[in-house]
Amino acid sequence: MPTLFVNQERVDVASNVPGDTPLLWILRDALSLTGTKYGCGIAVCGACTVWIEGQPVRSCATPLSSIKTGAEITTIEGARTREAKAVQAAWEKLDVPQCGYCQSGQVMAAAALLARTKRPTDADIDQAMAGNLCRCATYPRIRAAIHEAAKSLG
Ligand code: FES
Ligand code: FES
Repeated sequence: MPTLFVNQERVDVASNVPGDTPLLWILRDALSLTGTKYGCGIAVCGACTVWIEGQPVRSCATPLSSIKTGAEITTIEGARTREAKAVQAAWEKLDVPQCGYCQSGQVMAAAALLARTKRPTDADIDQAMAGNLCRCATYPRIRAAIHEAAKSLG
């Protein structure tokens, strides 16, 4: 029975859950953490982005068997780091979302970027966010909000 920590709560995944089950299904179906979205299912859109040990990953393409026992997994519901709070505040201030579907993945990717790069350039942002697609094309506001969040973090 693999044990994970999801948003700091212990989760014992039943031993009959197949190892190839994507983390996304465990989060959404077993734990009802539906803030993480299913977009493409093939690791190309970023809607399913969560953190494992603080690193952004595509949960649709992360099989249970690839996750170390005891790993710390964070979803949008539990993203409470300084950077995540700054990103969410900037998102609200600049009214970033349109339909909203891609946005939890965008926030998780943006906060992870700011955790490793304090003052990202436009090029840093474009590179870090390239795998997070938005069919509403909110890209200019996403970029502006990341700069805003970086400024607010000082
Ligand atoms: S749903 Fe995972 S990358 Fe698209
Ligand atoms: S806000 Fe609609 S897909 Fe990004």
